[in-house]
Amino acid sequence: MRETSMENMSQVGLLIMLVYILLFASNNAVAIECLASDHETLMDFKNGLEDSHNLLSSWRNTNCCQWHGIYCDNVTGAVVAIDLHNPHPVQSLQSNLSGEIRPSLMKLKSLRSLDLSFNTFKRIPIPKFLGSLVTLQYLNLSNAGFAGLIPPHLGNLSHLQSLDLTSDGYDLYVENLQWVYGLVSLKHLTMDRVDLSLIAGTDLVSALNQLPFLTKLHLSSCKLFGQIPSPSSLNFTSLVVLDLSSNNFVSNIPDWLVNISTLQHIDISINDLYGKIPLGLRDLPKLNYLNLGANENLIARCSQLFMNGWGKIQKLDLSYNKLHGRLPSYFENLTSLTYLSLSFNDIEGVIPSSIGQLCNLNTLDLSQNNLTGTLPKFLQRINNCPSKMPLPNLEIFSIGYNQLHGKIPYWLLQLESLVYLDLGHNLLEGPIPVSLGSLQNLTFLQLEGNKLNGTLPNSLGQLSKLAFLYVSSNQLTGMVTEDHFSKLSKLKILLMSENSFTFNASVNWIPPFQLQSLDMGSCALGPSFPTWLKSQSKIQEIDFTNARLVGFIPNWFWDISTHMTYINISHNELQGRLPNPIPTDFDPGLTLDLSFNLLEGLCEECGDSCVNEARKMNT
Ligand SMILES: *[C@@H]1O[C@H](CO)[C@@H](O)[C@H](O)[C@H]1NC(C)=O
Ligand SMILES: *[C@@H]1O[C@H](CO)[C@@H](O)[C@H](O)[C@H]1NC(C)=O
Ligand SMILES: *[C@@H]1O[C@H](CO)[C@@H](O)[C@H](O)[C@H]1NC(C)=O
Ligand SMILES: *[C@@H]1O[C@H](CO)[C@@H](O)[C@H](O)[C@H]1NC(C)=O
Ligand SMILES: *[C@@H]1O[C@H](CO)[C@@H](O)[C@H](O)[C@H]1NC(C)=O
Ligand SMILES: *[C@@H]1O[C@H](CO)[C@@H](O)[C@H](O)[C@H]1NC(C)=O
Ligand SMILES: *[C@@H]1O[C@H](CO)[C@@H](O)[C@H](O)[C@H]1NC(C)=O
Ligand SMILES: *[C@@H]1O[C@H](CO)[C@@H](O)[C@H](O)[C@H]1NC(C)=O
Ligand SMILES: *[C@@H]1O[C@H](CO)[C@@H](O)[C@H](O)[C@H]1NC(C)=O
Ligand SMILES: *[C@@H]1O[C@H](CO)[C@@H](O)[C@H](O)[C@H]1NC(C)=O
Ligand SMILES: *[C@@H]1O[C@H](CO)[C@@H](O)[C@H](O)[C@H]1NC(C)=O
Ligand SMILES: *[C@@H]1O[C@H](CO)[C@@H](O)[C@H](O)[C@H]1NC(C)=O
Repeated sequence: MRETSMENMSQVGLLIMLVYILLFASNNAVAIECLASDHETLMDFKNGLEDSHNLLSSWRNTNCCQWHGIYCDNVTGAVVAIDLHNPHPVQSLQSNLSGEIRPSLMKLKSLRSLDLSFNTFKRIPIPKFLGSLVTLQYLNLSNAGFAGLIPPHLGNLSHLQSLDLTSDGYDLYVENLQWVYGLVSLKHLTMDRVDLSLIAGTDLVSALNQLPFLTKLHLSSCKLFGQIPSPSSLNFTSLVVLDLSSNNFVSNIPDWLVNISTLQHIDISINDLYGKIPLGLRDLPKLNYLNLGANENLIARCSQLFMNGWGKIQKLDLSYNKLHGRLPSYFENLTSLTYLSLSFNDIEGVIPSSIGQLCNLNTLDLSQNNLTGTLPKFLQRINNCPSKMPLPNLEIFSIGYNQLHGKIPYWLLQLESLVYLDLGHNLLEGPIPVSLGSLQNLTFLQLEGNKLNGTLPNSLGQLSKLAFLYVSSNQLTGMVTEDHFSKLSKLKILLMSENSFTFNASVNWIPPFQLQSLDMGSCALGPSFPTWLKSQSKIQEIDFTNARLVGFIPNWFWDISTHMTYINISHNELQGRLPNPIPTDFDPGLTLDLSFNLLEGLCEECGDSCVNEARKMNT
């Protein structure tokens, strides 16, 4: 009995499937015909638009269902979607639509989706009649050049699930959010860069409380201000994404945030939030992105904040706040973390070996804190990390501007993925390890302002992707030769002043790089002016202060100087007259310091500080 009914059921199922396949196939084979009335409506809509680049060239034949951007219902043939978004918004030659949006659109009785994003409607207002397209479920007017008041009529769109009114830059504004109350089906609301300065935090939360289905809210850079209130009950408990970044909220973090267990993405960075970071955030079961950076006044004790929870977190940015206390010796539950920035806080104590437990980390920024002690001798690992090496994916590591001392540890030289390494402005000592030269992906190496001694390892010349090399203000000594630069073809900025280097390159040396900025102050560079500089046609800043240069400044130096904004060759023994007049095509913003030399032709009265003297001479 049972079996027979099962059989019958599956036969019925088969039949349904067959009918479905037949229907579907016929729909594919014979294109649906557009309704004559919709055809007429769209022709009128087209006539209102300015289409200088013929984007709508396909809007000709009788079947409007085949036109570019038009979608019809498979069964009724009614137009259900108009998608005329500009797919290449950044290419300025791209065809954009402008002109007028005709009210005839109201005749499309089945229209569910309208996308005009990234066109250039030359600051016309959003038409009020869009509020009468009551069948709409999706409306995207993002970056489409509309300006002025967002018509409250949009609040009549009670079936709307997704509304994107992102503005090019405060071109759109609202007077209040009462109209939003009507959007009872809304799931996604995006109004980035819409001017909401007439709305206080209170109005915002009241409006949100009318949107029980809201899952994504993007209100970045909307000039929102004031407190974010905590109402006694919450309706918007399905929120997944909350972006209130770059507003002017002066507020505690509202307690309700930790009650919305669906939250995955929270961004309230760049506001004026203050007070304690609620510990409940770490218990949000799905939270993978939290950015509370640049609020200046959020407080948390580090050891407590990281003690528990954060099970799903991938990106955590708490930079530019008032975090204090020590980093925890336990990070085991943050193994999903790929990005951690705690820079510009008041964190103290040592960097614990437990950072090694963060095995998926791509970025670790602990710069600008009050970290002390030596770097850990080794890093802890945990068993559920896929790699045997600690921090195998770390590309960005920054601990600059702390008070860390001791030697550069061995584990750091094994972080093969490193692209950006900033150890600058600490108290690190000992040599620059030779094996730093095997971190093949390094593009940024900042070691400035430490107490490193010994020589500059030749191996650095192997870093073929290196663009920024900063080793100034250490206690480095020895010869710097062509070998140090043999593969540095990408080098743009080289700062090596305030050490005791001697630079030795042959007269024929043509460096592999084209520098933009060069600081060799207090390097023994002379006696003669370095001829290799001749090849540096893009250079903008040169500092050869106290570089033991003797003799004449070659004429070619003035030829390559025309792009330069800063030249400091003070404190040498350069002699001779300056070219007079000095080339007129100098950058008007040029700072030129030739003081403390033996040059003739500088004006008498300025003596020691002949800054900008060349320009004065010229007049
Ligand atoms: C209508 O056709 C489109 C494209 O051929 C297809 O993706 C969609 O599932 C169809 N809808 C129905 C209801 O058959
Ligand atoms: C198209 O719009 C984009 C911005 O949305 C703009 O940068 C571009 O200049 C426009 N192109 C034309 C031809 O107007
Ligand atoms: C639509 O909304 C506006 C303003 O909120 C209102 O004046 C108007 O009566 C509404 N129209 C319809 C058809 O509901
Ligand atoms: C609106 O369109 C733009 C670009 O065409 C897209 O990036 C954005 O995600 C859309 N908004 C919504 C809410 O779908
Ligand atoms: C929650 O939403 C309902 C309608 O969905 C509304 O009547 C009620 O006032 C809302 N609650 C609050 C606190 O705004
Ligand atoms: C948040 O949850 C706490 C307890 O879990 C409750 O006391 C509080 O009223 C809730 N807040 C809101 C706004 O729902
Ligand atoms: C770490 O996470 C596990 C599972 O997610 C949990 O059972 C454990 O209590 C957490 N430990 C701490 C210290 O948070
Ligand atoms: C750093 O820590 C030292 C000693 O703990 C303290 O004296 C100093 O004020 C702190 N500096 C900052 C900027 O917090
Ligand atoms: C270096 O960078 C390249 C290109 O980005 C990447 O494919 C490679 O895996 C990186 N090497 C290491 C050791 O991470
Ligand atoms: C570097 O400095 C340390 C002391 O910090 C000293 O013991 C060592 O000899 C110095 N090395 C060189 C090469 O000067
Ligand atoms: C500079 O390098 C050249 C070889 O390029 C070498 O002959 C010369 O002795 C070096 N000068 C000094 C002072 O070491
Ligand atoms: C040139 O460098 C010297 C030494 O570092 C410095 O004192 C002077 O201010 C610099 N000149 C300019 C114009 O910056």
